[in-house]
Amino acid sequence: KAMAKFAVLGFGVVGSGVVELFYKNKAHIEEKAGQEMDVKYILDIRQFPASPYKDKIVASIDPILEDPEVTAIAECMGGVEPAFTYVKACLERGKSVSTSNKELVAQKGAELLALAAEKNCNFFFEASVGGAIPIIRPLHKCLAANDISGVAGILNGTTNFILTKMIRDKMQFADALALAQKLGYAEKDPTADVEGLDACRKICIISSLVFGKHVYPKDVYTKGIADIALEDVELAGHLGGAVKLIASVQRQADGRILPAVMPMFVSYDNLISRVDDVFNAIMVYGDAIDKTMFYGRGAGKFPTASAVLGDVIDAVKHARTVFSQAWEPSDDNRFLAPIAER
Ligand code: HSE
Repeated sequence: KAMAKFAVLGFGVVGSGVVELFYKNKAHIEEKAGQEMDVKYILDIRQFPASPYKDKIVASIDPILEDPEVTAIAECMGGVEPAFTYVKACLERGKSVSTSNKELVAQKGAELLALAAEKNCNFFFEASVGGAIPIIRPLHKCLAANDISGVAGILNGTTNFILTKMIRDKMQFADALALAQKLGYAEKDPTADVEGLDACRKICIISSLVFGKHVYPKDVYTKGIADIALEDVELAGHLGGAVKLIASVQRQADGRILPAVMPMFVSYDNLISRVDDVFNAIMVYGDAIDKTMFYGRGAGKFPTASAVLGDVIDAVKHARTVFSQAWEPSDDNRFLAPIAER
């Protein structure tokens, strides 16, 4: 029987979740993959002498790159570098990569997708948007027959958690943030969550996928929730709605697209207003579907690991062409509408 060995890059919240979930559900995962599987290496520059996976931990990417037995990679390091260098090197050797790294996909997605297509392997990123929620494949495949006019939703668990705690428990902003960090929802640097940058990276990925040209974070109007006070969320409640950090992209009448991230008043008539805690929700608007909402846990160790491992299973099954040519590079941002036209 065939045996697929994979490596996990990064052993923080998500990386350790991938390894733990794999061993917990190994028999079932192998059945889905149609072959035996194992984790051969875990790349972690910190040393964990007490880890049960001690014998798998390596401090350099080299043994992973040089080992022909390793055909799939789960990249859970976060940040553009050194993740980009490592992922590129893996793809160049024909090793498929599944990543949870939003920053990497938002900055380098087009390049990595092209490289994967050239090398006949996969670059998968289901875990990069919406944590556990299946959204990348549905957008790219299941909804492919639609003319999609826009996508809008809550794409950051940490800020949604903070806003929920503020309104429900009258919790102070800083306490709610500390709790989100403790629960493993927040980014290493939580300003990326609070300032809307994490949601921005995710709407870039969605925009690129839906509209077919790479959208870069620098071109997206982004405002976080740092200025939202307890009075604001209370007032919203009195007015029949909730303050939510909304990431959206809409096609304008002239065909250009307008991606943006900002706190918004969302009326209780809209299901998005009811999405609380760490949950994310993504509403997709298309000519055939009208609208479809995707809802689930947008952050956290096992929800994100679930998405990464789903991709790894696909990768070892050699579902090669899923995303080849999913979008093309863009040299300018003339296809984006400026925020003032909204
Ligand atoms: N910090 C992110 C969030 C993690 O809170 O949504 C998931 O991408």
